[in-house]
Amino acid sequence: MEVQKLEIKNLTKDFQMKSEKIIALKDVSYTFYPNKLYVIMGHSGSGKSTLLNILGTLNNQTSGNYFINNQDVSTFKEEDLCQLRMSCFGFIFQDYCLDPNLKSFENVILPMYINKEIKKEEYEKRALQLLEYVNLNNRNEHYPKELSGGEQQRVAIARSLANNPSVILADEPTGNLDESNEEIIFKILRKLADEGKCVIVVSHNQSILKYADTVLYMKDGQLGDSHE
Ligand SMILES: Nc1ncnc2c1ncn2[C@@H]1O[C@H](COP(=O)(O)OP(=O)(O)OP(=O)(O)O)[C@@H](O)[C@H]1O
Ligand SMILES: [Mg+2]
Repeated sequence: MEVQKLEIKNLTKDFQMKSEKIIALKDVSYTFYPNKLYVIMGHSGSGKSTLLNILGTLNNQTSGNYFINNQDVSTFKEEDLCQLRMSCFGFIFQDYCLDPNLKSFENVILPMYINKEIKKEEYEKRALQLLEYVNLNNRNEHYPKELSGGEQQRVAIARSLANNPSVILADEPTGNLDESNEEIIFKILRKLADEGKCVIVVSHNQSILKYADTVLYMKDGQLGDSHE
């Protein structure tokens, strides 16, 4: 499914603990569109990952609504959600989350196994093309431990693109990387947005704001577009 719009309305998320209720998101409303790179900033614990996880349908909100192309996500059956996660969203994490026992190209192939639309014969060719896209075609046969952090993250980006998602969700993708690798990663994310994807990135680093179309600030579970 081609995503035209991700719309959240009056979203809240509570975590009920034994002795207290943690309010992670408070009345968050926003609409995300393709062809844009959004950066979400904010202090630790302000709710950034919670928001990203709900956008990626990895978690549910406590109240409020989430619409994808005007369809209410809460009405989706579990199998529709699985299909949606596979075909619409690519996930990138701070710690890369690569399988240590698989070579670069095998890590990129992994998400294709659950996609009926990609033929088995195409897996390897497609993986190699994606590794070329992140400029890593000279590391196809390397295992994660044989790659630098920046290279591992580029494999993870290639993997996130395996099923050609419309939306890329990246939670502090350069949190473990130095400045030059951060630049490389953000240039790739910028290119993906320019090619039509909706790219939503959580970051702490002011120096990457130049890559963003929109900067959003999360504070105590609330989302705003200006910094106080
Ligand atoms: N599964 C959970 N159970 C209970 N509380 C949680 C859970 N996940 C998050 N929280 C709480 O919700 C709040 C928001 O957490 P979240 O992980 O979204 O913050 P964050 O902005 O991503 O922070 P960081 O920058 O440190 O990654 C925090 O107070 C956190 O302790
Ligand atoms: Mg987080």
